[in-house]
Amino acid sequence: MHRIAIFASGSGTNAERIMQHFAEQPDIMVSLVLSNKKEAPVLEKARKAGVETRSFSRDEFYDCNRILEVLQDRKIDFVVLAGFMWLVPEYLIKAYSDRIINIHPALLPKFGGKGMYGMNVHRAVKEAGETESGITIHLVNEEYDKGRVLFQAACKIEENDTPESIAAKIHSLEYANFPFQIEQFISAQ
Ligand code: GAR
Repeated sequence: MHRIAIFASGSGTNAERIMQHFAEQPDIMVSLVLSNKKEAPVLEKARKAGVETRSFSRDEFYDCNRILEVLQDRKIDFVVLAGFMWLVPEYLIKAYSDRIINIHPALLPKFGGKGMYGMNVHRAVKEAGETESGITIHLVNEEYDKGRVLFQAACKIEENDTPESIAAKIHSLEYANFPFQIEQFISAQ
């Protein structure tokens, strides 16, 4: 059995799909959902799915190994970042080297780096007049948005698209691919 912990900061619609996907899998399970926000809707979605939840403060995340202990206690094998907006500290990256998977809502290396998350990405894509955008699923290393790319998928951006309609297209791509890509990556280990 492979155990996943999902980190998410917001609404958690990707996390929800991932939990649904693995609820039917005998070999891989989502054991824990963590958030840096106590009130993040993702935590309610996890509770509804019967998955243990946990929120944490900045100090707990960056200044001690508390979160690592929590993951190790639950025998977590893989970490999935599904809309997680904080930089992952080095101690976690080292402990889970090549076992942390992130989704980025653009075609990296374009529109990556500090400040590029969520709607900021879609606004930047729109302002740049891009004719396509997409998703990147990648491993996390010490450099922001620069770990090994596992998968990318693109979608067309029309002239009349808004940041909101781009976000909707990107979410559809994410839902269609992220759970399956996680499964493929973990099954190949
Ligand atoms: C997703 O689009 C994800 O790609 C993005 O946040 C959104 C979370 O949506 N992640 C980043 O921007 C990370 N840099 P969700 O909470 O509805 O799953």
